[in-house]
Amino acid sequence: MNYDNKVILTGVKPTGTIHIGNYVGAIKPAIELGHQINKTGRHIMFVADYHAINAIKDAPLLRQLTREIACTYLACGLNPEQSFFYRQSDVPELFEMTTILMAYTPKGFMNKAHAYKAAVDKNTAKGEPQDAGINMGLYTYPVLMAADILSYDTDMVPVGKDQVQHVEIAADIAGAINALYGNVLKIPTPVLTESAAVLPGTDGRKMSKSYHNVIPLFGTDAEIKKAVMGIQTDCRDINEPKNPDEILLYQISKGIVPEATAAEIKEGLEKGGMGYGTIKKMLLAAVLEEIGDKREKYNYYLSHFDEVEDMLHAGAQKARAVANPVLQRVKDAVFHRV
Ligand code: TRP
Repeated sequence: MNYDNKVILTGVKPTGTIHIGNYVGAIKPAIELGHQINKTGRHIMFVADYHAINAIKDAPLLRQLTREIACTYLACGLNPEQSFFYRQSDVPELFEMTTILMAYTPKGFMNKAHAYKAAVDKNTAKGEPQDAGINMGLYTYPVLMAADILSYDTDMVPVGKDQVQHVEIAADIAGAINALYGNVLKIPTPVLTESAAVLPGTDGRKMSKSYHNVIPLFGTDAEIKKAVMGIQTDCRDINEPKNPDEILLYQISKGIVPEATAAEIKEGLEKGGMGYGTIKKMLLAAVLEEIGDKREKYNYYLSHFDEVEDMLHAGAQKARAVANPVLQRVKDAVFHRV
């Protein structure tokens, strides 16, 4: 992918305790992409706290989750001097842009949007009325997301599979505005991020806090060790040749350990002779190596959040300086002010 001189934007919703699966699947690739893009283009990374209030009404919890996600990205190497790094709710331009975009968004788009449909399906499965518990924020989720994207003349949006459709809706809304008023908004393109890196949890289900099967990213050594040693294994003989693709411990390890170690484990399983205990030790070493000093940095940022607050504010100022002229351009067009 050629990102030269491009504007790349990613939003993350504050969700909950961050685990190694989030790290290898989303955080690390996003930060590496940022380092690459910042050489020639612009990397924008923000905490989608407006989107989060649709689901989280416990304010202290939301504040805590927002802090945790911000500190995680910083601890993992996001450079706030180079990337734009801010909280969505610190950029009021988004909110004006959202209102304008609403007028160009067919209601039918919202009925078909993934986040809303998933909520309706959940209700239907539970035998509840289809819109039970669904607020307008969730319903119009893609319009705010379109504002997030279109306000910075974004070229590309790296997203997981479930968010591609939302980016396409943003492109359609921008297209509708351009069809009426000329070339006002940049049309964004979704870029599907690797889904290969999805890590199973220690019991083989999806890695998720609610299943209690996570390897925490910023746990204590003891917590991390307990999680790794607790990865479910079978009781076949150590010397029996095994198919690595059927072994959970290998599936988790290959997402984390260096390539050469993964190859060594694969061979050890295929030929037989390498025990699960040995593999767990190799995995634990790799996890701790990957975490390195990130945990100390994370704890530092969390306990000195005023410093992070300053970074987020500076990021919001940079973001506003870009979003404001784009918003003016749209207002000039739709209200025919020039
Ligand atoms: N909806 C995204 C998610 O749930 C988060 C998000 C909000 C986002 N605004 C965005 C992602 C704009 C990309 C671009 O993961």
